[in-house]
Amino acid sequence: MFDPDEIRRDFPILNRVIDGNKIIYFDNAATSQKPIQVIDAISNYYKYYNSNIHRSAHRLAREATKLYEDAHWITAKFIGANSGDEIIFVRNTTEALNLIAYSWGLKYLNEDDEIVVTIMDHHSNIVPWRIISKIKRCKLKFVKLDENGYLDYNDLESKISDKTRVISVPHVSNVLGTIVDLNRIRKYAREVDALFIVDGAQSVPHMPVDVKKLDIDLLAFSGHKMLGPTGIGVLYGKKEILEDMDPFLGGGDMINSVECDVKSLGCRIIYAELPRKFEAGTPNIAGAVGLSEAIKYLEKLGMENVRRHEEELIKYTLERLDEISTLRYYGPSDHKFRGGLVSFNMEGFDSHELAILLDEYNIMVRSGFHCAQPLHLYLGISSSVRASFYIYNTEEEVDRFIEVLKGFEEMV
Ligand code: ALA
Repeated sequence: MFDPDEIRRDFPILNRVIDGNKIIYFDNAATSQKPIQVIDAISNYYKYYNSNIHRSAHRLAREATKLYEDAHWITAKFIGANSGDEIIFVRNTTEALNLIAYSWGLKYLNEDDEIVVTIMDHHSNIVPWRIISKIKRCKLKFVKLDENGYLDYNDLESKISDKTRVISVPHVSNVLGTIVDLNRIRKYAREVDALFIVDGAQSVPHMPVDVKKLDIDLLAFSGHKMLGPTGIGVLYGKKEILEDMDPFLGGGDMINSVECDVKSLGCRIIYAELPRKFEAGTPNIAGAVGLSEAIKYLEKLGMENVRRHEEELIKYTLERLDEISTLRYYGPSDHKFRGGLVSFNMEGFDSHELAILLDEYNIMVRSGFHCAQPLHLYLGISSSVRASFYIYNTEEEVDRFIEVLKGFEEMV
């Protein structure tokens, strides 16, 4: 097990003092902080290696190309993929899920086909499928939750039919923290031969995720939620699935050849091999370098340990939140089935008001509907406050958070 206090030394931002107090950063589900190792790797890349990749023959270009290609392999190993060819670098989870919806959905979906998502999905797993389902005249179905905030697997079963072509679910809800039983969902997907897609934005940074063991067809996640920089995200896909999909974006570096005839107006295009087929244009090379370093950092800690730390922290937090009678949190009360985050409301406070009050004590949380408005409407609320943890958060910080919330309770 690691020591969060030791880890904190690697994070310059956590040493910031505002009005005489250190910051308590509980907004990790939105984006994590970055260790000095990642900051230095990006800075060193620009100082010593910066060049475009796959284009020029000079030394800098060769070195930058190697760093970028290595990043695919480092990421592949981290999630148990077969090779770097199965890793497509995109901007973020949202772009990865859009890529799937457009590239796979436009090619393979037909009228009356059905797409199954859940009511606790982030907008990025709802809106793209809604757009594609309108274009292709498909049906978009939402799986409900049970009264404890778990996915209702009976409802899921009832929503699957021989028309189901896609089942796309979050691994961990970014609001409820609910961990979804992917093995169970995959079995349903296989029964009807549907594509099995996982939004790993809130799981890959926080627990071991092995795409082969879980037999996931396509997985999306973001670098910035796992110690990496913003602007770099990952789409993992089984090679045969990615090979069958058409490119999402066309342009430089994603083709082997383009021959166009000025007279016949015909064009013959041969796409590049994976992963380049899906990485048109100059990619985020520094981002890939930063992500590699972030993965190395997490691997050193061990993802089992990361999960254990967060599980202990959320267990402790839920117990302590129960001390506040005017507070209601959402999602499972069993820490074994939830990630390290909790969303809640407190009687007498609007969620934004509460977040602003917490900020006065340097406690940084997110308020609103967290890009999951359908879930909030389903729960009968308009918004919530969310505290989300990571490797550097401590029980002492949770104690301070509870103490401050208790003080608010007395205000009303
Ligand atoms: N998807 C991120 C969140 O839940 C931004 O906060």
